[in-house]
Amino acid sequence: MSVELHFNQQLSSVAPGSSLFDYAETLGIQVPTSCRKQGKCKECLVEVVEGMELLSPRMPEEKHLDGRFRLSCRTAVASDAGLVRCHTMRRGQMRIDLSAAGLPETLRAIFPDPAVTRRGDAISIDGQEVDRSTGPIHGIAMDLGTTTVVLRLFNLETAELVAGASFENPQRFAGSDVMARIHYDSLHPGKLLRRTLAGYLSHAIEDFPVDPQSIYEMVVVGNSTMRDLFFRQSVHSIGQSPYQSITELQMAQGRRASTSLTETGRRSLLPIHPRARVWGAPVISGHVGADAAACMLAAGLAHEERLVAIMDIGTNTELIVGNRHRILAASCPAGPAFEGGAIACGMPALDGAIEDVRIAADGSFHLDVIGGGPPQGICGSGLVALMSELMRTGQLNERGRFEDGPHRIVLDPQGSVFFLESDVNELAQAKGANSAGLEVVFANYGIGFDQIEVFYLAGGFGRHMNVQAAARIGLIPPIPEDRVVQAGNAAIEGASLALLSRSKRRELEQLVRRVEHCRLETHPRFFDFFVEGCLFKPMEPAHQVAG
Ligand code: FES
Repeated sequence: MSVELHFNQQLSSVAPGSSLFDYAETLGIQVPTSCRKQGKCKECLVEVVEGMELLSPRMPEEKHLDGRFRLSCRTAVASDAGLVRCHTMRRGQMRIDLSAAGLPETLRAIFPDPAVTRRGDAISIDGQEVDRSTGPIHGIAMDLGTTTVVLRLFNLETAELVAGASFENPQRFAGSDVMARIHYDSLHPGKLLRRTLAGYLSHAIEDFPVDPQSIYEMVVVGNSTMRDLFFRQSVHSIGQSPYQSITELQMAQGRRASTSLTETGRRSLLPIHPRARVWGAPVISGHVGADAAACMLAAGLAHEERLVAIMDIGTNTELIVGNRHRILAASCPAGPAFEGGAIACGMPALDGAIEDVRIAADGSFHLDVIGGGPPQGICGSGLVALMSELMRTGQLNERGRFEDGPHRIVLDPQGSVFFLESDVNELAQAKGANSAGLEVVFANYGIGFDQIEVFYLAGGFGRHMNVQAAARIGLIPPIPEDRVVQAGNAAIEGASLALLSRSKRRELEQLVRRVEHCRLETHPRFFDFFVEGCLFKPMEPAHQVAG
């Protein structure tokens, strides 16, 4: 008798007794660790998707975890029959957008003017000497997302992109959205979230093909919660109405001139030069964070005459509308459904994720799977395509109900990836929040969707989703396709600009001060917009509402 263990898409038959970490090593799976299975570093996280009851009880070292998360070095297979499915938090290779597309402010278009400079062997940050070295000098731009983390490593003297890395944010063990993380942080003092992330970041930096000590600056963008957790700020106030970060409150009190944050490499817990500068870009307001600010920089809003919209669909969808004359922004608490969270067979856009679905005339499903192998789950772009196809073929109505009664739709011949009506409900809620955000921002601006001249879809999901399908289910407005730019990770592009150019960094600081923040929940019709947005039908193109 043995247990069938599916670990990071690899299969083996295992006898009880050994830890999941041991089995991972046998399978050649790299589990993040800094303590070599001592139960101290808390990095060896695994998410157990199936078969938790076949595993050993939780150990004291795991008391910070619940739900599906375990420490693999503290979890043994305790049964001699059954099926266990689990994966590490660094599974597969995530799709990294090393280049954004269609943005006016590209790295090629700027004159590099980094804060880190060298004269002879003296290396300075903003003119202040921090080291002496004749080797290359490097910097990192980081987009710290709720779900994923993306890093870019640059040679600061040549502006050359040296390497990139990305991984799932391991803080997911504390919940999928920012409110859950804030709650977790309040219950578990001791900066557990910060430490776990720092461990993963350190491994990523050590894997770069350069000496980490040659990294003298790091620019961090992320939503207000992710950024402030990274910089050890209290996030309590972001979780309470009126949802303002501690830096925003201090700035309003005249105690700081900017919401940007700075600390040294030494204090960052990362293996970069101890006198390096880690700079957290300014947040806009509330949950509209430094990632949205970076998107604005990359989209060139400071110089833009056209009316543009930027939509970064994610756990917290960011919306920005405007041009150089006026800019409005909002954050929509959409939740993780469109990133594969809270969906029975949902997963991020990793190898094995279904990213596109077509239903043939005979009713069979045709799937595009990232990496080309057998499907393991379905990611956001696959969910949009599936919903659109189910509607097109009349199997799903606009209220999100299957026409022939609730059932489970099996997508692959093996029957391992399926879609439930409860998944539709999750997607409806997420879509409702996004739609309501769009309606409120456009209403406040006093324009209809048809007046937008460029509609940037930012983020990995926006880059890869089928625009027609997204418009059919009402996730985005029905804007002519030639006005839609699937830009990809505009936030990392903006972070890179701020790393390589001091003038762009100043532009970023000035831009965030000009943004009018729309607090969605204060709009009198927000709830109506939300309810309407939960329906799966195209949005009205010329919808125009008095604010
Ligand atoms: S390997 Fe460090 S806690 Fe498990």
